[in-house]
Amino acid sequence: MEYTLPRGTQDILPEEIDYWNFVEKTAKSIFALYNFNEIRTPIFESANLFNRVISESDIVKKEMYTFLDKGNRELALRPEGTAPVARAYITNNLHRVNQHQKLFYQGPMFRYERPQAGRYRQFHQIGVESIGSDHPFSDAEVITMSYRLFKALGLKNIKIYINSVGSDTCRPVIEARIKQFLASNLSQLSENLQEKFKNNPLKMLDSKDEKLQTYLAGLPDMREALSQESKDHFNFVISYLDHLNIPFEYKPTLVRGLDYYTETVFEVVSEDLGAQNSICGGGRYNNLIKTLGGKHTPSVGFAFGMERLIMLLKKQNITLPTPPKLVYVAALGKEYQMEAILIAEQLRKTGLLTSMDYTKLDFNAHIKTAQKISASHIIIIGENEYETKTLSVKDLKTRSQVSVPFNDITSYFQSLTETINV
Ligand code: HAM
Repeated sequence: MEYTLPRGTQDILPEEIDYWNFVEKTAKSIFALYNFNEIRTPIFESANLFNRVISESDIVKKEMYTFLDKGNRELALRPEGTAPVARAYITNNLHRVNQHQKLFYQGPMFRYERPQAGRYRQFHQIGVESIGSDHPFSDAEVITMSYRLFKALGLKNIKIYINSVGSDTCRPVIEARIKQFLASNLSQLSENLQEKFKNNPLKMLDSKDEKLQTYLAGLPDMREALSQESKDHFNFVISYLDHLNIPFEYKPTLVRGLDYYTETVFEVVSEDLGAQNSICGGGRYNNLIKTLGGKHTPSVGFAFGMERLIMLLKKQNITLPTPPKLVYVAALGKEYQMEAILIAEQLRKTGLLTSMDYTKLDFNAHIKTAQKISASHIIIIGENEYETKTLSVKDLKTRSQVSVPFNDITSYFQSLTETINV
């Protein structure tokens, strides 16, 4: 008998694992900077949890792995992480611990989708949920955090699209506008799209149907259909992102596949990925926790797919950080040697082999010495570094260079070590 891998699943082999550890480690360190804490929920939940909050999505309609257990309970392998985290917030009365809970999670999700590159039946997400804040700062904070994470991983050419799908009050106005705009072309559209027109016109906006896309080209700015409150919320998110220099694009046709979104929605995409180009998706979900029986708890979050992200890292030839073996500290002038000695001592205290050459002060001479002794990294301190209290650290294998504040130099090398050793 031949055992094969179930369709849409894959083994993660030892040669791959460094990528997984690198992404998980980087994500955890970025989330920690924003004070997000980890939560772990079961891989299966009562199927009703998902039926209740994403009933309109394809996930519940056709993709959920449901089964009866031996006690006749209907369970589902979780297709996503937001509903389980919201359930855990209610089950464990987390609002009593802290009204505003900033949580992150990671793990496998399951959707019975047609497998293709970047689309699996078992895939892995890392996600965050900022639960209990209706402030637009929270929307902007999670978007900023996703951007910082993708930058920290070294990704290039990523795009953040954002939109607002409004609140319960503006949703009917938005839907009426879409209907009004498309009414005259309705008979030209497929049955499926006509059905969407009737039941969920918002979902027509991100349809891949070419005919519909040409009709939608002249769609008026949907921001006009938002209530004043939703407009203010969205404008605040935008101004906060601008203020932090986070690049994004307003995309009026961006609507998400899951039903629970209100107000801000966003997606991070890369053209380098082909058809499945969405790495990360998220948005605000102000009604979800109340729908599940909790108090009104406005929230916002996102999740990204590990498989797609790792595909992109490889496609963009992003090399993983090299664990430090022997580091070489280079002072580019006598006046910086005292500081360089201190740095070398700090590193040695953490157990890192560290070398210096006090006779050399020239950059090229230092590089030659570092290469001769097979150092993995060179730490440079010259005028610029001294002024800004920030060291230049060059990975001699990948040739990549980063700036690390004086005070963070030991933790920087520790993090590189852990990335590979975890
Ligand atoms: P989602 O857009 O369904 O959102 O999934 C988020 C990410 O998971 C996608 O951008 C993609 O990278 C990855 N993904 C989804 N399906 C697959 C698949 N079949 N194979 C591989 N990767 C996949 C959510 O799941 C929401 N819970 C996100 C969220 C969190 N919203 C608010 N908080």
